[in-house]
Amino acid sequence: MKQYPNVFVFDHPLIKHKVSILRDKNTGMKEFRELIEEITTVMTYESMKDMELVPVEVETPLEKTVQYRVREESVAIVPILRAGLGMVNGVHRAFPTARVGHIGMYRNEETLEPCEYYCKLPEGIEEKTVFLLDPMLATGGSACDALSALKKRGVKRIKFMAIIAAPAGIERVATEHPDVAVYVSTLDRCLNEHGYILPGLGDAGDRLYGTK
Ligand code: PRP
Ligand code: URA
Repeated sequence: MKQYPNVFVFDHPLIKHKVSILRDKNTGMKEFRELIEEITTVMTYESMKDMELVPVEVETPLEKTVQYRVREESVAIVPILRAGLGMVNGVHRAFPTARVGHIGMYRNEETLEPCEYYCKLPEGIEEKTVFLLDPMLATGGSACDALSALKKRGVKRIKFMAIIAAPAGIERVATEHPDVAVYVSTLDRCLNEHGYILPGLGDAGDRLYGTK
């Protein structure tokens, strides 16, 4: 985005197609979960563009050659509970052996303030590139608190991925955490008076897990 150089908003036909189905109130839980995973996979490919590669020698049936691989052990995945859990498999498709930490956050529905209720991170996380995941970036409170929690534990390289974002959430994350790379599949119009994204998709956690 022009005013925030570390914020990348996708403009991709496949993502537009899948997000349009995700938003539909008639899309059921199973398809919703599959779409969240598929969109995350597409986003992961894009967000890996700057990842460090290491040379490795490979022997093909014809000859030896030097090729390049990412260091899977240099990546960790951290979903913000609950809804971020739905994105984990999408990143695991690219980094199947990446360890997973969890940060539990819920928004107080009256004040919209986030509350951290759980945090368990893999050992050595401070040396890894962390993919922090949450499908919804609304006011930005949950993302900012989760980013601060990671930084407090020494994490230096973070890529935050959200599927749907409101302008207010982007502004808050980009201002409070300008060092974090933010990948947003779709930028929506605004928040309503209850802090829900418009047009949005409703409550992502409820739609993923069939709760109200
Ligand atoms: C949702 C969503 C984000 C948060 C976004 O979680 O998954 O974590 O709200 O809102 P914010 O940007 O205004 O902080 P919720 O609190 O509903 O918890 P859940 O994932 O358990 O449903
Ligand atoms: N959390 C959600 O799940 N949906 C929104 O629109 C805002 C916050």
